[in-house]
Order: sequence, then structure tokens, then C-alpha cells
Amino acid sequence: MKNLGKRNSHFSHRCHPPPFDQAAVSDREEVDAGIGILEFFEGNNIFVTGATGLLGKDGLRLTSVGKMYLLIKAKDKEAAFNRLNCEIINSELFTCLKEKHGKCFEAFVKAKVIAVMGDIGHPNLGMDFESIESIKKDVNVIIHSAASTTFYERYDFLFDTNVNAPQRVMRFAKTCDKLDLFTHISTAYVTEREEGVVLEKPLNMGGLDVADEISLLLKSSPNNIDATNFFVKCGQQRAKLLGWSTTYQLCKAIGEMCLNEIRGDVPLLIIRPACIESCYREPLPGWIQGLRTLGPVIISYGKGILPAYYANPLVPLDVWML
Ligand SMILES: NC(=O)c1ccc[n+]([C@@H]2O[C@H](COP(=O)([O-])OP(=O)(O)OC[C@H]3O[C@@H](n4cnc5c(N)ncnc54)[C@H](OP(=O)(O)O)[C@@H]3O)[C@@H](O)[C@H]2O)c1
Repeated sequence: MKNLGKRNSHFSHRCHPPPFDQAAVSDREEVDAGIGILEFFEGNNIFVTGATGLLGKDGLRLTSVGKMYLLIKAKDKEAAFNRLNCEIINSELFTCLKEKHGKCFEAFVKAKVIAVMGDIGHPNLGMDFESIESIKKDVNVIIHSAASTTFYERYDFLFDTNVNAPQRVMRFAKTCDKLDLFTHISTAYVTEREEGVVLEKPLNMGGLDVADEISLLLKSSPNNIDATNFFVKCGQQRAKLLGWSTTYQLCKAIGEMCLNEIRGDVPLLIIRPACIESCYREPLPGWIQGLRTLGPVIISYGKGILPAYYANPLVPLDVWML
């Protein structure tokens, strides 16, 4: 394989991991020291969607932020508060914080974290008037992590959650008094089917017309066939036709494009993680929520159900460790 001249690059090594290199370890320490993200968040009030998900929950361990408003799907405020306690605060992910703050942990959480009942599928994100007003007044940063992450869901459902909903969040962002940043969590796979080094450029619509997809979905309301089956297949066909592997990836890509189109002067940061897997070191090595992309493969191999896995050893595998 052609050596690209980069020290310890996975592109330049025939084996994985590449041979141990002390200089690379120092690089790693520099990376761990960060590029100032923690400092950026210091004291900022943030509004988070998708906080009960794998990524959102992990991000909440940032303790230096000001207030955190978490949008949680629930039938009422009390149910949202219960989900906050059961699924987030009492998660083993927060053991370290509990140990750090001891008896004050509860007070610490109460002072910082506010559960907001809502749903990104609804106008105004399904929030009540009081929550809308507080968030508009307080929040500096929005992190939109909520999404539907099932690859082959119904097209109409994925379109609403991953294309329409980010735009609902952006419209809400535009009403905030002092917003400094809108962070949208996308996926590395929006750049589907490109080979070689793929730069993280903004996606442009190209030949894709979002209005066509919307009118297709509006027209396609089958009454005499199984609607679920119909919309699942419809998504797979559109993805294939337009150049993506799954309906999820197609919708995440269109979601990015639409956000770019409507953001106006809102500062927009789009993050494109690869497969997200368990925690690397903190707070618990190996912590993960549910069985994710690679989990089933690893477990099946461990149990002997999957005897082998075809892969090209020269191709780097990109996995995010939390
Ligand atoms: N996991 C990965 O490997 C991976 C890789 C690349 C990119 N991403 C992106 O990273 C983000 C987070 O992924 P994740 O793995 O944390 O996902 P996840 O574990 O499936 O969680 C999804 C989150 O979105 C929320 N949500 C879904 N529909 C909602 C709605 N209508 N209203 C309000 N909240 C809603 C869910 O709430 P409930 O708990 O109420 O369902 C949950 O909190 C997503 O944007 C995803 O596309 C993930």
C-alpha cells in the first residue's frame, strides 16, 4: 500500500493497530487535553434533545455547564421528571459524579438539570408555554441529538424525525434571545458511497429536491395495502436511487442540507460521528446503552454464533469510543 507519509497513519500500515510509537502516545495526550470544547461550555446554559439516548446521556457528564434543559418525551411533566431520574441520573454513568458530590449530588442536579416534557415531532417541540419562555431567555447553546436511529424504518417516520424535526428545532433556535451555537448531531454516513479521503464539507442538494420527497410521501397513502411495509420499501428504494445505503442515512443527509438552507445567521456546528460504541475510559470503561452497531457482531463472535467476519485488513475501521 502506498505510504502517505503520515506518522502512524492507519492508511500507511498493513497491520492494525499500527506498531507502538511513543510519539503517537504524546499526541494522544495532547488530544486528551482537548481543543477547548470544555472551556467553551463553561457556564453556558444548554438545551439538549435526545438526552435519554446513548450519546446525549454521555454528554451530560459535562459538569462545568450552567443550566441544562433536557427535552424528554413523556405524557406529562411528572413523567418527564421520572424519566430524568430513572434513565439519566440513576444511570451508572453518573456514579463518578455521585461520588464526587456525595450528599450534595441531589442538590447539584436540582440546581442544574431541568426536565422539559416535549417531542421533536410536534410544533414548538411539544413544550409548554412556560418552558418555551425560560429556554428562549436562558439558553446559549442547543445540542440537537434526538433522532430515529433505525436504519430501515418507514420513510415517512424517518423523514419526520430526521428531516422535519431538526428544522423545527432550528426554527425554535431562531427565537432564542442569546444563542451562540446550534450543534446538530449527524452521522459520518451522510457521505455515503464515496471512496478515499472524504472531507467534511457541507452537503449540497445537488439533484435532490426535498419538495419531491415530501410530495411523494403525501401522495403515497396506501389504503388497501400494508402501509408499514409500503413506507419501509419506499424508503429503501429512494435511498438506493438517490445514492445512500439506508433510509436513515438518506434522511440524516437531507436533514443536514435543510438545516444549512434555513439556518440564516444562526451559528451551526454539524458533528458527524462514525459508529458510536462504549466508553473508552470514563466514567466506566465499556459502558454502553443497548446493543449498538458492532455489539451484536462482537457478542455473536464471543458466543461462537458467528465464527468469522469478512473484512479487508487494509481498510481502517472508524469507531467512536465515548
Ligand atoms: N449511535 C451511533 O452509533 C451514532 C452514529 C452516528 C451518529 N449518531 C447520531 O447521534 C445522535 C444520537 O444517537 P444515539 O445513539 O444517542 O441515539 P439513541 O440512543 O437511539 O437515542 C435517540 C434519542 O432521541 C430521542 N428521540 C427520538 N425521537 C424523539 C422525539 N420525537 N422527540 C424527542 N426525543 C426523541 C430518544 O428519546 P426516547 O428515549 O424518548 O426514545 C433518545 O433520547 C443521533 O442524531 C444519531 O443519528 C449516532
